[in-house]
Amino acid sequence: MNILIIGGNGFVGQALIKEFKKYKVEVSYLSRNQNHSISKDKVTWIQGDIFDLDTIIIKKCYDIVIHLIGTIKNKNLYSKLNTESVAQTIKLCQKHNINKLVYFSENGGFKQYLESKLAGERLVRDSKLDYLIVRPGLMYGKGRLTSYFNILPIKFFSKLGITFFKNVYPLPVEKVTESVVKSILDNTDSTIIEIKDMK
Ligand SMILES: NC(=O)c1ccc[n+]([C@@H]2O[C@H](COP(=O)([O-])OP(=O)(O)OC[C@H]3O[C@@H](n4cnc5c(N)ncnc54)[C@H](OP(=O)(O)O)[C@@H]3O)[C@@H](O)[C@H]2O)c1
Repeated sequence: MNILIIGGNGFVGQALIKEFKKYKVEVSYLSRNQNHSISKDKVTWIQGDIFDLDTIIIKKCYDIVIHLIGTIKNKNLYSKLNTESVAQTIKLCQKHNINKLVYFSENGGFKQYLESKLAGERLVRDSKLDYLIVRPGLMYGKGRLTSYFNILPIKFFSKLGITFFKNVYPLPVEKVTESVVKSILDNTDSTIIEIKDMK
């Protein structure tokens, strides 16, 4: 199996690559900048901007693309990064005959943010590709030390029963990536991974 991770140099990408490597799966990642802390052993970096498809050079055949570009911080980029980058990734899959797309969506969060992720989900569903939609809450881990700061307040407010915080359900990034890699390797028919599947 050969996997291409779009935006794989970031927080979730690094954890996914580690998990895939446990199973000796071949992985490449595409991003504008190389992450030198990702081992080069059997991991190929493809330099590219998903909004500039014509300049992206893909030399291998891939079975699955995993889309990891997104932002929660920058409202002005919600539409571009959370939705339009998905449309670009679908075009890349079609251009290179890659049949399956895994999309990291979201379980909760600010209204506009969630809407931009749900718009991404609709593009994936309508794409005619095989797909898997992953809906994690907030992920935390050593790869992003600041991610630990938000957990305690979220857990506190969630215990008070406030829906917004309950939906943010924090999980270690490794738990999420374990579930995703297992689902991909098991090749299940499931098209969605929800919080309950990752707990
Ligand atoms: N982190 C969380 O807690 C969380 C929770 C729920 C859902 N998610 C979703 O999970 C996904 C991954 O999150 P993350 O935290 O790993 O994000 P991240 O750390 O920001 O990683 C995304 C990577 O995408 C690359 N990228 C951005 N624009 C690009 C472009 N135009 N072309 C190619 N690559 C581009 C960036 O690298 P370059 O700048 O080098 O290109 C960046 O490192 C996102 O879709 C996010 O919305 C995350």
